[in-house]
Amino acid sequence: MAGVAGRLARRWCQNQAQSPLQVISFPSLQVHVNGTAMRASQEDFKNAMNQVKLLKKDPGNEVKLKLYALYKQATEGPCNVPKPGVFDFINKAKWDAWNALGSLPKETARQDYVDLVSSLSSSSESSSQLNPGAEGEQKYETLVVTSEDGITKIVLNRPTKKNAINTQMYQEIILALKAASKDDSTIIVMTGNGDYYCSGNDLTNFTDIPPGGVEEKAKVGAMMLRDFVGSFIDFPKPLIAVVNGPAVGISVTTLGLFDAVYASDRATFHTPFSHLGQSPEGCSSYTFPKIMGTAKATEMLVFGKKLTAREACAQGLVTEVFPDSTFQKEIWTRLKAYSKLPPNAMRISKQIIRNMEKEKLHAINAEECSVLQGRWLSDECINAVMDFLSKKAKL
Ligand code: COA
Repeated sequence: MAGVAGRLARRWCQNQAQSPLQVISFPSLQVHVNGTAMRASQEDFKNAMNQVKLLKKDPGNEVKLKLYALYKQATEGPCNVPKPGVFDFINKAKWDAWNALGSLPKETARQDYVDLVSSLSSSSESSSQLNPGAEGEQKYETLVVTSEDGITKIVLNRPTKKNAINTQMYQEIILALKAASKDDSTIIVMTGNGDYYCSGNDLTNFTDIPPGGVEEKAKVGAMMLRDFVGSFIDFPKPLIAVVNGPAVGISVTTLGLFDAVYASDRATFHTPFSHLGQSPEGCSSYTFPKIMGTAKATEMLVFGKKLTAREACAQGLVTEVFPDSTFQKEIWTRLKAYSKLPPNAMRISKQIIRNMEKEKLHAINAEECSVLQGRWLSDECINAVMDFLSKKAKL
């Protein structure tokens, strides 16, 4: 592992020196320790703990781990509990974060905690000023979420990046699904803004290396992916994908967890995992063979065969295909009619279908994330991502 980390760091350095990749920064969380200004009192610390609960935006798993570690260090000192087992992912990530602080003095940890919370509070204030909305309304930077006619619509909204899912979008989708599960809409629709449905995982996510290095990055990434896919598994109401254009990677694999998938005939379905040195996620290692049979699933998930919308429909991944010219009109007429069906009956019917497999899907999700965590550190994956980024840098 250390060898791989070293190679990634070296390749990064080479690329940074040679190409416009110089503009790619490493905006990982930095906790500033100011030796001359370590004066956070217990009162400041207590206030900061209260402030965390009032943050308007989920700061994400990476930051939450840092907050946890600093809190433990400030209150209990250096990590003093046994390391959790390798499959106890969440507690192990927390333990690693705390342990990584070594012998940092309690007072410094307290100050760092206060500084970190203060930086989160100000960034959350400035982001809400950028996106003013009604009181109590959830604000998103990568999504547009609207509710009308009993339909909550979640639109992936990074059209210039083909709606690639960056870390923020992963977190916002988790939040949007959570909010939609509780709102009074009867059905929930996910679609994309622009010519793509979604180009999958944002490959520049791999460049945001935290201080703990690529291993920590992979660990935190796997935890986030597990939460993300888990929120599709557990979603209680009918969840419908309106695939307006090409779909790649995780935006294809998660389709197996939607209740219906409607596609424009312009859409394509592509899971180039082997090409990227990666492996399937979104429970597709189970849902795809179940939907289309092992032989067809293998062509997609192992050999990266791209399907047209009509092929995906013939294989059962897509419910129905519409001509692109009439797609939006036809689909919204249909969905508005569905949204008027009795909501409780729809919810109960969905759950009766899903509940039989929920436990199994969570276990598959955990296994896929654990395998991917290893894949992300493999030479095959690192080289493929570096190639994508180098090509981008040469443009
Ligand atoms: N991750 C990061 N950036 C992505 C992206 C992704 N998955 N998909 C698209 N983008 C970015 C491109 O880098 C480009 O950014 P730039 O304008 O800053 O250079 C922008 O989105 C537009 O994409 P571009 O490649 O110019 O459009 P295209 O029509 O020629 O190709 C794709 C579109 C999706 C085929 C191509 O961008 C691609 O192959 N992306 C990677 C898809 C992928 O491998 N996803 C992960 C699957 S596991």
